[in-house]
Amino acid sequence: MSAEIKLLVVTEEPAQAEDIQSRVGNQFPQFLHIHPSEVRREIARLQPDIVLLHEMKDGSGIQLIPYISREVSDVFIIYLTERRDPVRTRDVSRAGAFDVLFLPDEITALEDVLSRAVKAHQAKEYRSEASASFTWGRGQIISFYSGKGGCGRSLISSTLAQTLQLDSTSGVLLVDLNLQYGGLESYLNIESDRSIYDLTPVLEELNDNHIRNVTVVEPYSQVEVLTSPADAEIADQVTEDHVERLLRAARLYYDYILVDLPTEMSTLTFTALEESDKLFYVMNPDSVSMRIFGRVLDLFGKIGVDTSDRLEVILNRISRDYELNAKTVQQHFPYPVIGEIHEDTKRLQQMINRGTPLRTSRRERGLSVFARDIQKIAKRLLSQQAGKTA
Ligand SMILES: Nc1ncnc2c1ncn2[C@@H]1O[C@H](COP(=O)(O)OP(=O)(O)OP(=O)(O)O)[C@@H](O)[C@H]1O
Ligand SMILES: [Mg+2]
Repeated sequence: MSAEIKLLVVTEEPAQAEDIQSRVGNQFPQFLHIHPSEVRREIARLQPDIVLLHEMKDGSGIQLIPYISREVSDVFIIYLTERRDPVRTRDVSRAGAFDVLFLPDEITALEDVLSRAVKAHQAKEYRSEASASFTWGRGQIISFYSGKGGCGRSLISSTLAQTLQLDSTSGVLLVDLNLQYGGLESYLNIESDRSIYDLTPVLEELNDNHIRNVTVVEPYSQVEVLTSPADAEIADQVTEDHVERLLRAARLYYDYILVDLPTEMSTLTFTALEESDKLFYVMNPDSVSMRIFGRVLDLFGKIGVDTSDRLEVILNRISRDYELNAKTVQQHFPYPVIGEIHEDTKRLQQMINRGTPLRTSRRERGLSVFARDIQKIAKRLLSQQAGKTA
């Protein structure tokens, strides 16, 4: 009856996979097993119908649910865990899992749950019912990167975060990964003594409360901001694990996660780029920026940062005085220019010096040219998202 169904078991433990196979292998001749570390590489190719996702020993695994759902449409994920933790169980189901089984006792219910999943798969009832709630857990991660400093990443990411939060119902998290010096806090006029490093003791079980404990809410827009420790010694102790786990968990709770990255290509920057759905490359319209963009693309190629369908360019500080425009960039590089922001020195300087964020309320009059150009980028993102969920 389930011959046409592809069943994939994701577990670190071969013995667990064998046990499952001995229980249900007869009903599911298309039975596959992979290690969780292989999910990213294999899932799009395998296209399973049902996934049995076994929580890893270090407690991670929930983060794979939105990832798998994104890569395989209409997949049914059954989460297997040894921990009966109500917060986790809530997160698992919110992330879009079909069901949760607590091991070892409930393994006896596996056949039952699978037969429900198969029925739902065949009837496709679940799909339409679930599509509304399935948006949960699929927050978009957008990184702001540039090979050249001072081009506007921090100002653009912070104003875009405010704009998305103010002009829509989205929940936005803004993360400053310039761990040594920071930058965002001065544009948003906020202060915080907590940073990503403070997540260390709870990294393995990160949930929304933990994240909220270390963020600060920007009072005008209500954007949540995770500021930089702005301390070289602390920065040294932040690991790829911090970045990966934070971003994967944040996907479950926010619609947009905007990450302001430093120019330096470290393993942390690499990890953030890897986790991102979009890479916004910020550049000024001049020949030096063009040359550096070329070098960055070479480096991305060498270290394996995949840019296809992900990298988009934002041109900042366009004006009559600059030599280049969007057309020139597109003639040289195969990436779309999705935003053009005008030079607006006088107004920006005034606001930055006064410590006023560039957005302060929902329907603002007399917005700066800069803020209006950012609004166009926000609109584009929001309409893409609406198109996806429709
Ligand atoms: N469109 C613009 N018009 C006028 N000035 C701008 C514009 N964009 C950015 N600036 C100026 O450039 C400065 C640097 O911007 P920002 O701090 O956002 O750059 P960054 O890429 O984050 O730099 P860093 O390498 O220091 O992190 C801002 O303080 C602002 O004064
Ligand atoms: Mg910056």
